[in-house]
Order: sequence, then C-alpha cells, then structure tokens
Amino acid sequence: MAFHRLVRLDQLHDGFRATFRIDREDILLLQQDGRVFLIENSCPHQGFPLDRGSLRGERIICPRHGFAFHLERGDCFQAPSCRLKTYLPAYDGSYLGVEI
Ligand code: FES
Repeated sequence: MAFHRLVRLDQLHDGFRATFRIDREDILLLQQDGRVFLIENSCPHQGFPLDRGSLRGERIICPRHGFAFHLERGDCFQAPSCRLKTYLPAYDGSYLGVEI
C-alpha cells in the first residue's frame, strides 16, 4: 500500500466533492457535516457514477435507481448484496489522502 495525496486540508469544506483516479480505482472524496468520506465513484448496482448522487444524512443516493449506500460502511439499504467500497482517509501533514 502507498499513500496518495488528494487535497490540502484547507481546501476542504462541507459540500466539497472531487473525484480521483488512482491506479485503477475511481474514488469520490466528499465532505458532509465536517466529516470526510472516501468511496468508490461507481455504484455497485450497475456502475453509475456516484459523484452525481445526493446525500441524505450518512447515505449517498445513486441517481440511477435510487439505492442508498452508507458513506462509511458501504452497506445498501435496498439491496444488502450490493456493497459500496469505502476507504479510510489518511493524513500526511497538511494533506488528506488515501492508502491503496
Ligand atoms: S446503478 Fe446505482 S442504483 Fe442502480
């Protein structure tokens, strides 16, 4: 595993969203209520990009069919077999990143 810098911490704010391609993984970084989440940017149902999803509490709603995924655990309310990949934020000085 290696640390990959994503953004400076002072760039983050509620409502922040950005996507990153690291190795072969598409990652969505977002901040909500002061908390940072890192999730795969592809719905595990049929692959729709989740950066266009809406947030409802700690869940992101896929705009394609409306499945809701927990931003930390990745579980899906409507289809338990659909699990979203999530990542732990990692920090290096004034940068937030991810270890992959
Ligand atoms: S593609 Fe996301 S819910 Fe179907």
